[in-house]
Amino acid sequence: MSFFTMRWSDDGVLLLDQRALPDQAPVLCLRNAEEVARAIEDMVVRGAPAIGVTAAMGVAIELANANDADVPAALERAVKRLAATRPTAVNLTWALERVQSELSQALRAGTSPSQVREQAKQLAQQMHDEDVQVCQAIGDAGGPLLPDAARVLTHCNAGALATAGYGTALGVIRSAARDGRLKHVLASETRPFLQGARLTAWELQQDAIPVQLVTDSMCGALMRQGEIDAVVVGADRIAANGDVANKIGTYSLAVLAERHGIPFYVAAPLSTVDLRTPNGDSIPIEQRSSDEVVKLRGQRIAPEGVQARHPAFDVTPAELITAIITEKGVARAPFEQALAAQFER
Ligand code: MRU
Repeated sequence: MSFFTMRWSDDGVLLLDQRALPDQAPVLCLRNAEEVARAIEDMVVRGAPAIGVTAAMGVAIELANANDADVPAALERAVKRLAATRPTAVNLTWALERVQSELSQALRAGTSPSQVREQAKQLAQQMHDEDVQVCQAIGDAGGPLLPDAARVLTHCNAGALATAGYGTALGVIRSAARDGRLKHVLASETRPFLQGARLTAWELQQDAIPVQLVTDSMCGALMRQGEIDAVVVGADRIAANGDVANKIGTYSLAVLAERHGIPFYVAAPLSTVDLRTPNGDSIPIEQRSSDEVVKLRGQRIAPEGVQARHPAFDVTPAELITAIITEKGVARAPFEQALAAQFER
């Protein structure tokens, strides 16, 4: 891969600034947890697994700056601030709970502050590396579900840019492409933030995977014309019953896919599955600024003063989902049992 999404350095957390893609690919260096939290809120880095790994690095940089006596307080402060950045993706909570639990345990056991700082760095790096491996396993589990010469629609960006590398939905696509079974990807532009147009199209181009960009409104017509063999998307949170929160517009695609008899796959790590959330109605949906709707990359496209709505995610009910692909394999309905079984494996 010719780029990285996030990387640890002793100066700070390095993030590819995704707001500038595809025109430029600058790298920012964030030197404390507050800067990392703002970068997550401002979408410098986005995508459920990516913000989880970045938050773990944000804790590590806060501890690296803290003097010995302040290490326990710095841990609490960093976890609290980072957890408040984005509400829908449960990978953020998952990552921060893991970091807090392991480091608090070390502190309670009398581990020295300098060792805890080192442990925080190593844990963040380990979570990064595990995420890449998990994505490759998701790709290898999902790739074989696609037919030969597959034309696959994906929404938003669930690729290397949304993870530590390889991607979830794009992981499935990468594995199918590697195995010679992909004709092309259709990337929906994903209004209003344009993750499909700006990020997925760029990422696939970098890997020379054939991609055609479509507007969100073209997908129904293309399905009707028989031009889409499968839909593969990522997820921000999967409830215990299999309901899936993902980027706004995902639900509409699932309804259209069902109407046209097209398989609808969700690819996500088990860290996205939240057994504490019983169903989609209990998933908090982030409401982002209406500015992102009335402006396109900073340029106003609607009348001054007009009101706009911006729910950033929607919920697709489990009954519209053909299968959920995780690093443990392919889960099918009834999802409640299938997902629980994957945790036991
Ligand atoms: O608002 P974003 O860009 O963070 O939303 C990202 C998505 O909805 C992705 O599809 C999801 O996080 C899966 S990423 C592997």
